[in-house]
Amino acid sequence: MENFVSENVKNIEISGIRKFFNKVVKIPDAVSLTVGQPDFKVPDSIKDAMIKAINDDKTAYTSNAGIEELRDEISSYLKEYFNINYDKEEICITVGGSEGLLSTFTTFINKGDKVLIPTPAYPAYESCVKLLGGKVINYELNSDFSINHEKLEKIINMESPKVMVLSYPCNPTGAVLTKEDKEKLYKLIKNKNILVITDEIYSSLSYEGEYYSLAQYEDVKEKVILVSGFSKMFSMTGLRLGYVCAHREVIDSIVKVHQYAVSCAPSVAQWGAYEGIKSCLSEVEFMKDEFIKRRDYLYEKLISMGFEVNLPKGAFYIFPSIKAFNMSSDKFCERALNEAKVAMVPGSAFGSGGEGYIRISYCYSIEDLEKAVNRLGDWIRKV
Ligand SMILES: Cc1ncc(COP(=O)(O)O)c(C=O)c1O
Repeated sequence: MENFVSENVKNIEISGIRKFFNKVVKIPDAVSLTVGQPDFKVPDSIKDAMIKAINDDKTAYTSNAGIEELRDEISSYLKEYFNINYDKEEICITVGGSEGLLSTFTTFINKGDKVLIPTPAYPAYESCVKLLGGKVINYELNSDFSINHEKLEKIINMESPKVMVLSYPCNPTGAVLTKEDKEKLYKLIKNKNILVITDEIYSSLSYEGEYYSLAQYEDVKEKVILVSGFSKMFSMTGLRLGYVCAHREVIDSIVKVHQYAVSCAPSVAQWGAYEGIKSCLSEVEFMKDEFIKRRDYLYEKLISMGFEVNLPKGAFYIFPSIKAFNMSSDKFCERALNEAKVAMVPGSAFGSGGEGYIRISYCYSIEDLEKAVNRLGDWIRKV
């Protein structure tokens, strides 16, 4: 039967994040800091809006691009909070950021097209590109996971990639795009024939003052596709809602792909997110403040244990170096799981640039974090 599976599918693997998550289930009493599912409940008004949508029989297909009310709200939200301009006709509601990413890559990638992807990075980018027969070219980051603009320019000049991926705030490193990065990237892509896919699913969890995105420039708008979503923002990962914003000239092509993949995003979840943007932004701020407290706690504990680690500026992941332990990240996580009963994700799950690091997700309760830190501390003294 194996022979029936396409070469492109054979070429990709189940995400390393999930692989580790699945191992945890087999270790009783393990603390799992593996996946990006916040421990907060979906805000009540979102739940009520979804129940109302069901009772009002709003359960049929919506338009392919999604309900106008939600697209309108997203448009105002992006404008007001991020200084990003897309009108409702330039927005497509998707089944999570995941489908948004796959539909976007499918829209643009021909067999053999080169796509520039940072390493380390969220594994879906590479898999989407491989699935479509595209060619992945990795660009390496600085040691603090900021963009190395010189290297990036060099690789763009050398390889002439069709697409480049940006992903800030970053899963797995917690890095954000700075003002300087934004300006340098703008200068770089302005005169180049390149499309940028920017995954900003953690934008609502950016801990620094001002938010920077390449999507803020009007004059390169046709070169930028923004992918985002509500999984992390409203702690509603299972409700599967995201969105893609793109210039008028290409959004219809993305909607075309999205239509054949899923017809439309779930209607009830769309009404929930609509209510969420209208009335739950203070709850998002509350969650963000909680994540900052957890980040600070974890960062200080890791430093006191002797880890070399950057302070994350967004998202809810921290990415300490384990190079001092002389073990691969896979081995480190395997041993930490079996011996300390703490599950974390090996950096190698995020590509070659992630080797030598581990990803710890801190969207878990402070009690879980404390338990994990105590166990790790005891274990490390013996390793
Ligand atoms: C960087 C990034 N992009 C996209 C996604 C996809 O999220 P979803 O499909 O739940 O919206 C995730 C999920 O963890 C992510 O970390």
